[in-house]
Order: sequence, then structure tokens, then C-alpha cells
Amino acid sequence: MDSPKTAALPPVPFIDLSAQHHPIAEELLEAVARVLDGGQFVLGEEVAALEADIAAFCDSRYAVSCGSGTDALVLSLMALGVGSGDEVITSPFTFFATAGAIHRVGATPVFVDIEPDGFNICPEATAEAISEKTRAIIPVHLFGQTANMEPLWRLAVLHDIPLVEDACQAIGASYQGRQAGVLGTMGCFSFFPTKNLGGAGDGGIITLDDKQLAQRLTHLRVHGDTGGYHHVAVGFNSRLDALQAAILRVKLTRLQEWTEQRIESAAHYDQLILARGLGDWISRPHAQDSCRHVYNQYTIRVPAFERDDILGSLRAEGIGCAVYYPKPLHLQPCFESLGYSIGSLPRAEAAAAEVISLPVAPGLDAASRERVIERLAAACEGQAGWSTRRAA
Ligand SMILES: Cc1ncc(COP(=O)(O)O)c(C=O)c1O
Repeated sequence: MDSPKTAALPPVPFIDLSAQHHPIAEELLEAVARVLDGGQFVLGEEVAALEADIAAFCDSRYAVSCGSGTDALVLSLMALGVGSGDEVITSPFTFFATAGAIHRVGATPVFVDIEPDGFNICPEATAEAISEKTRAIIPVHLFGQTANMEPLWRLAVLHDIPLVEDACQAIGASYQGRQAGVLGTMGCFSFFPTKNLGGAGDGGIITLDDKQLAQRLTHLRVHGDTGGYHHVAVGFNSRLDALQAAILRVKLTRLQEWTEQRIESAAHYDQLILARGLGDWISRPHAQDSCRHVYNQYTIRVPAFERDDILGSLRAEGIGCAVYYPKPLHLQPCFESLGYSIGSLPRAEAAAAEVISLPVAPGLDAASRERVIERLAAACEGQAGWSTRRAA
């Protein structure tokens, strides 16, 4: 039998949704039963109630739900009339859906580099990319940290260009006291299960203050139908299920608590990385001043040439970790015709080569965090040249 010292330590999963759901299982099952009894499965009261809850949470006048975060982006661009011949500026360092949505409405994504000291779109680079064809800017609040909005607001006003926030990873984040989702013309959220507020399937929502746009969105998500099979536009089918809405309403009551746990885990990781003397080699995520970072991911950067070895050794030790995202969007084969090449957007390319996301989901206890950083330190120290660099 193993002695306590030699016994294998339990793995630290990247995310464990069943552990998150277990303590609220009864409430979730009651919500599901309520929908089954009611017999209204698509849109309806439950969905309207979730929309009201999210609007209240995000301080927006309206919230229009839909089938996914991807659809939220597509619907927003459609509602703004963005289409063929138009350009939309966005970040290349994001999940594919951001740029996919631009392409889907017939417009061209214009990728600009990220900031030197963060993962979000660079406002100066955005200013340089504005052309006569620019019809929208999509800042992405990557990993739960809002983009640097103030200079983007100035650009939006100066050029009369709407800002569509890709807030899919950032529900509950804030910038200068304002919630993600009301930092632009529209805010797009995803309820994919691993998001900070995730359903038991796909789902999405758009938050906004403009009544006309909100009405347009409610039509577009049902094939442009204003009621009675009267179609004022060609939309598509993107409706939220009542079951998802009922589940999300239960989970929304825990969102603040879960977010605080994420923030606490991030602060603990910061402290442990510094305490182990890794601070010079590992770059930690930093929350911008007067912003609330909600850590959908806790993403560090390590030297590019060591990243895959470090990742492999963490995984071999049972530490769940991930690379978001290994290839920036301007280098994706499907966007080859846009003419970007390696070196076009060097900061995004460097980030893609250096990032590792560590477990940060709610429920991660202090012992697990210590184990993650202890294993990270061992993985770094196992790299050739680590000790010489450290001594230098
Ligand atoms: C930044 C970002 N944008 C858009 C999406 C698309 O959301 P969904 O998966 O709900 O379509 C995601 C989801 O992963 C995302 O992380």
C-alpha cells in the first residue's frame, strides 16, 4: 500500500461541471420539471424571465436571447445592417466565432493586433485600420477581461461606428464601473456550458439599450417574422430553449459567488507564482485598473520554445490545462484569401505560441491550486537552461 507521501495525488481537472452542478442539483431538477410540466419548450415565459434577469444583471434596457454566442454575434451584425462589401475590425486572438460571424453576414474581417501587455484588441491599431468601409468594431473581452474601451469609445463616436462587444467569456466583468454588455451598442454573450454562466447545452443572449435594434433582433431570430407569418426581413432560426433558460436562471443566482471564487483562485495563483520565484519567467494575467476581470480563463505566458514541453509535463501530472488559442485567426486557412501571413500581427502570434490556461473554475480548492503551481514550477525547472536563466 502507498504511504501517504508516495500515494498518487488526485488529478486537478481543467473544469468539472458535474461538481459545479451537484450542490444545486435539486433546484436544477425542479426547474427542469417545471418546464416539462408547462409544455412550452421554445421561447415563452421562462425565456422572457431569463431575458429580464440578464438585462437586470447587465444593467441593459433589453436582452434578446438566441441559440448561441455565435448567433448573438451574427444577429447583432445583421440588425446593424452589416453585410457584403463592409469591413468589421476585430481581434485575431479570439475564438473562431468572432470572425466567423463577420464572414457569415458577408462582410470582411479586418484583423488588428492585440495590446502589448494584454490579450485584447489594441485601440491604436484599431484606429489605423478604420476605412470608409468599416461598419462595426468587435472588441473581444478575452478570458473575462474587458477590452480597453475608452479609446474605442472615442473612435466609435468620431467615426460613427457601432461597437459590438464579444462578451461571450465575460459575463459579470466590468469596465470603469459599467458592466460588460453595456460598453458598446450591443453585447453578445454565450451560455456554452464552460462559460462563467453556462447552460446544459448551447445558448446566447444580446444585451442592449436601443429599442429599435432590440425589436429587430427579436424578429431576426425567428426568420424575420413580426408575428402572424409576416416576414419583414430574412433572419434565421435562433431561439433559446425554455429548458436552458430555466437552468440558467438557477445558475444565475450563483454567478456572483462563482465569480468571486474565480477571482480568489486567480489572486492565489498570482501569489504562488511570485512566492516560487517564477514571476520573471511566467507572465501572469493582470486585471486593468478599475476593471473587474472575471477569469473565464487564468492564462499565463511562458517562453514559446518551452510551452509545449511545459504543457505536456503538466498533463502528465494530471493537471488539466489548455491552449486558447494555438493559431490566431488571421493565419487560419479559411482566411488565406485575406492576405495575412506569418509576421502580419506579431503580438497575437506571440501570444498564441506562449499561452497556457490553468484550471480556475469555481470549486477549485487551495490545495489544488498549490499543486498546480508546484507542478508548473517543476515543469519549468525541468526545462534545459532554466536554472542558468534563473541564476543570470
Ligand atoms: C470569445 C467568444 N466568442 C464567441 C463564442 C461563441 O459562442 P458559442 O459557442 O455559444 O456559439 C465563444 C464561445 O466559445 C467565445 O469564447
